[in-house]
Amino acid sequence: MIWTIFLLAQAVLLYLILTNRSRSKSDPPLDKGVIPWLGHALEFGKDASKFLNRMKQKHGNIFTVRVAGRYVTVLLDPHSYDTVINDSDSLDFTRYAQVLMERIFNLRLPHHQPAKAKALTKRHFIGMNLSALNSTMSRHLQASLKAEMPQNQKDWKEEGLFNLSYSLLFKAGYLTLFGGEQNNNSADPSSIYEEYKKFDGLLTKMARGTLKPEEKRTVQSVRQRLWELLAPAGLTEDSGSSPWLHAYRRLLQEEGADEESQKKAVLMQLWATQGNVGPAAFWLLGYLLTNPEALTAVKRELSGISQMETSETSLLDRAVNTPVFDSVLEETLRLTAAPFITREVVQDKTLHMADGQEYMLRKGDRVCLFPFNSPQMDPEIYHEPQKYKYDRFLNEDGSVKRDFYKGGRRLKYYTMPWGAGTNGCVGKEFAINTIKKFVYMVLTNYDLELCDPNAQMPEVNASCYGFGMLQPEGDLLVRYKPRNAH
Ligand code: HEM
Ligand SMILES: *[C@@H]1O[C@H](CO)[C@@H](O)[C@H](O)[C@H]1NC(C)=O
Ligand SMILES: *[C@@H]1O[C@H](CO)[C@@H](O)[C@H](O)[C@H]1NC(C)=O
Ligand SMILES: *[C@@H]1O[C@H](CO)[C@@H](O)[C@H](O)[C@H]1NC(C)=O
Ligand SMILES: *[C@@H]1O[C@H](CO)[C@@H](O)[C@H](O)[C@H]1NC(C)=O
Ligand SMILES: *[C@@H]1O[C@H](CO)[C@@H](O)[C@H](O)[C@H]1NC(C)=O
Ligand SMILES: *[C@@H]1O[C@H](CO)[C@@H](O)[C@H](O)[C@H]1NC(C)=O
Repeated sequence: MIWTIFLLAQAVLLYLILTNRSRSKSDPPLDKGVIPWLGHALEFGKDASKFLNRMKQKHGNIFTVRVAGRYVTVLLDPHSYDTVINDSDSLDFTRYAQVLMERIFNLRLPHHQPAKAKALTKRHFIGMNLSALNSTMSRHLQASLKAEMPQNQKDWKEEGLFNLSYSLLFKAGYLTLFGGEQNNNSADPSSIYEEYKKFDGLLTKMARGTLKPEEKRTVQSVRQRLWELLAPAGLTEDSGSSPWLHAYRRLLQEEGADEESQKKAVLMQLWATQGNVGPAAFWLLGYLLTNPEALTAVKRELSGISQMETSETSLLDRAVNTPVFDSVLEETLRLTAAPFITREVVQDKTLHMADGQEYMLRKGDRVCLFPFNSPQMDPEIYHEPQKYKYDRFLNEDGSVKRDFYKGGRRLKYYTMPWGAGTNGCVGKEFAINTIKKFVYMVLTNYDLELCDPNAQMPEVNASCYGFGMLQPEGDLLVRYKPRNAH
C-alpha cells in the first residue's frame, strides 16, 4: 500500500515536471489556470464565449490556454485569420477532425483520404448536380409541409418553432440525400429524426468526453439504432438515395472500410449535412417573428417573387436576387453561428499578426479561431452587436453591404459562419438554397405567428459554443394555419 502511494506520488511528480510548461519570449501569453491538467476546461465548457472574452481582456488578441491537458492558442484578431486559414501545411485540419470522429461517431478510418472524400462531396454539391439536388429538395420540402402542416386544417395549430423547423428540414434533407422515396423500403424519416435529436442533445458532451455513465449508455443505444436505420442508405444505386451518398459509399469500400465503419461514416455525414440547417432556419424565422418590421420587409420581397411564379417552374429553383433575405440570413448567422475553427500545429510555425507582432506556435499544440467573438459580436465592428438588425447587411440604396471595418482597416472576414479557405463548408450553397426555400414556402403558404405576441427569443445554450449553429434553451411557441383556409 505504502509502495503504491509512493509510486503514484512519483508518477504525479514526474508528470508535473514534464508538463510544467513556461512561457518563452516568442510565445503568446500563457494562461494555464489553477487546476492541474484540467486548466480552464470547466470555465471553457460552461460558456466558451464569455471565457474567451475574459482572456482577451487580460491578454489581448492572442493567448495560449490549457484545456484538459492540451495547450490551445486562441487567436481573436480577424485581420490575422488568413495566416491560420492559409497555412494547411503547418496547421492541419484533419487530425482534430479525426479526434472528434472517434469521440462522437466511434469511427476510425485507417486508409481514409480526406481530400478525396471532400472533392467527391464538392463535385456533387455544385453546378448541374446542385440543380438536381435543389429540385429534389423542393419536392421533399413540399411533401413534408403538406404532411405535417395539412392544407385542409382550419384552426390554428401550436408548435415549438425549433422542433417544427428542425423536423421538417431534417426529414426533407434526409429523404433528399439518404432515404429516397417515402414508403419505399428506406427507414421512416420521423423515427430517424427522433433518434437523431437524442444523439444531437448529447453531441457536445461526446466531443468533450464529459458524458455521465447513464448518458454513455443512452449514446450507445441511440447510436446503435441510428447505425441500423442508416445501414441500407446509399448501398445500391437504386436504393433511392442521392448519387452523392452512393459515390461516398463506393469510396469507403475502395478504401477497405468494413460495413460497420461504413454505417458509422454515414451517420457522420447525416450530422454534417443535417445538423446545422434546421437550427439556422429556426433562428431566422424566430428573429423575423419577434421583429415585425423585418418580417414585413422579407414578405414584401418574397411576394414580388411569388407574383412572377409560373406553374411549371418555381422561381426559387433559379437564381433570384433577394438582398433583404440575404441580409436577414447574414444577420441571423452573425448572431447564432459559432464554430471553432481548430487546427493542429504539425510543425513549429511563426505566426505573423496583422499588427506586426510575431509569435511562435509550438508543434503539438492546437490553434483555434473563434469568429463568433470577433468579428461577429465585436462592438468595434458592429454597433450594438447583441441586437438583431435585419438590414445590417444592406446599403442605403438596397444593395448588399460588404464594407466593415476594424481599427480603420476593411475586413476580409466580417462574418464566418461557414469557416473559410480550403476547409470551408462544402455545402454552403445547398444550405442557403434550402433555408431560403423553406422560409419562402412557409411564409407564402401559411399564416405563422407567435402564440404570445410579446414573446422573446429563447436564450442561447452557453455550453454549446464551438460546434456550428447554437442551440436555444427551450423553444419559441408559434401557431400556424394554411393561408387559404377560411
Ligand atoms: C447552416 C448550415 C451549415 C453551416 C452553418 C455549416 C458550417 C460549416 C463550417 C463552419 C465548416 C468548417 C469547419 C472548419 O473549418 O473547421 C463546415 C465544413 C463542412 N461542411 Fe458545412 N455547414 C452547414 C451545412 C452543410 C451542408 C448542408 C453540407 C452538405 C454537403 C455541409 C458539408 C460540409 C463538409 C463536407 C465540411 C467539411 C469540409 C472539409 O472537410 O474541409 N455543410 N461547415
Ligand atoms: C492566402 O492565400 C491567398 C491565395 O492562396 C492569397 O491571395 C493571400 O494573400 C494569402 N494571405 C495571407 C495572409 O497569406
Ligand atoms: C456531377 O456528379 C458527377 C458524378 O455523379 C460527376 O462526374 C460530375 O463531374 C459532376 N458535375 C459537376 C459539374 O461537377
Ligand atoms: C438552387 O436554388 C436556389 C434558390 O433556392 C437558386 O438561387 C440557385 O441558383 C439554385 N442553384 C442551382 C445550381 O440551380
Ligand atoms: C416535433 O414536430 C413534429 C412535426 O411537426 C411533431 O410531429 C412532433 O410531435 C413534435 N415534437 C415535439 C416534442 O414537440
Ligand atoms: C424505391 O425507390 C426507387 C428509386 O426512387 C424506385 O426505383 C423503386 O421502384 C422504389 N421501390 C418501391 C418498392 O417503391
Ligand atoms: C445545454 O447543453 C448541454 C450540453 O449539450 C446539455 O447537457 C443541456 O441539457 C442543455 N441545456 C438546456 C437547457 O437545453
